[in-house]
Amino acid sequence: MRIVSFIGQKGGVGKSTLARVLAVAAARQKHKVLIGDFDLEQLTCVEWSALRMRHGIEPEIEARAFKSLKKLRKTVSGYDLVVVDTRGLADELTEDVSQESDVVFLPTGTSLDDLRPTLALARRLAKTRSVSNKIVLVLSKTGRSQRLIEQAESMIFDAGFDMLNAVWPERDGFQLDLDAGRAGSESSNPHLRLTALDIEQAFLKLAMGT
Ligand SMILES: Nc1ncnc2c1ncn2[C@@H]1O[C@H](COP(=O)(O)OP(=O)(O)OP(=O)(O)O)[C@@H](O)[C@H]1O
Ligand SMILES: [Mg+2]
Repeated sequence: MRIVSFIGQKGGVGKSTLARVLAVAAARQKHKVLIGDFDLEQLTCVEWSALRMRHGIEPEIEARAFKSLKKLRKTVSGYDLVVVDTRGLADELTEDVSQESDVVFLPTGTSLDDLRPTLALARRLAKTRSVSNKIVLVLSKTGRSQRLIEQAESMIFDAGFDMLNAVWPERDGFQLDLDAGRAGSESSNPHLRLTALDIEQAFLKLAMGT
């Protein structure tokens, strides 16, 4: 059983979305997946899972709300992968979740406004030795400018952190898919399906440790 988490200091950077993209990718590979939703105010993944069920979308992605790690620990047996989604605010739980995880993904936009707090959080988490080698930044909701992506990549590289070797591009179609209970390579748009496969493969490789 593997646990991977999506954490961050910023709201709206794609944590819940990428948690769903990874969960879908793993479930499509027949892994038994659970999303642990720790954002009790929004319950983005729980709501999305229910929407998916209402629309009869297969495979079913189980998502459950959790308040504490203790509860999660009691639940995880029997799953191949537990994907943890957290609030858009780094708190005590962020550190506990990070320690419990095999991989800790920090989604960030390419702007300095996003990168600065994300790198600060990464540095803070990296002070814990058992966490430092699990941190992976993910460029999320990227625009069409390759130059901005490259600038962000070199800033992350200079800070000494690992980065996912695929980005999650911002597209209206991805938003429409999420609103219909789909994610990533389930897109109704064939071009977006291909786009999503890149990041799914990169995620799966790290998440499943293969
Ligand atoms: N690639 C994309 N293209 C377009 N819209 C996207 C994309 N990814 C995510 N979104 C949209 O961006 C918004 C924020 O995404 P998401 O909810 O995943 O962020 P979050 O980091 O979980 O936010 P919060 O901190 O509030 O939990 C959502 O409305 C989502 O539908
Ligand atoms: Mg969220």
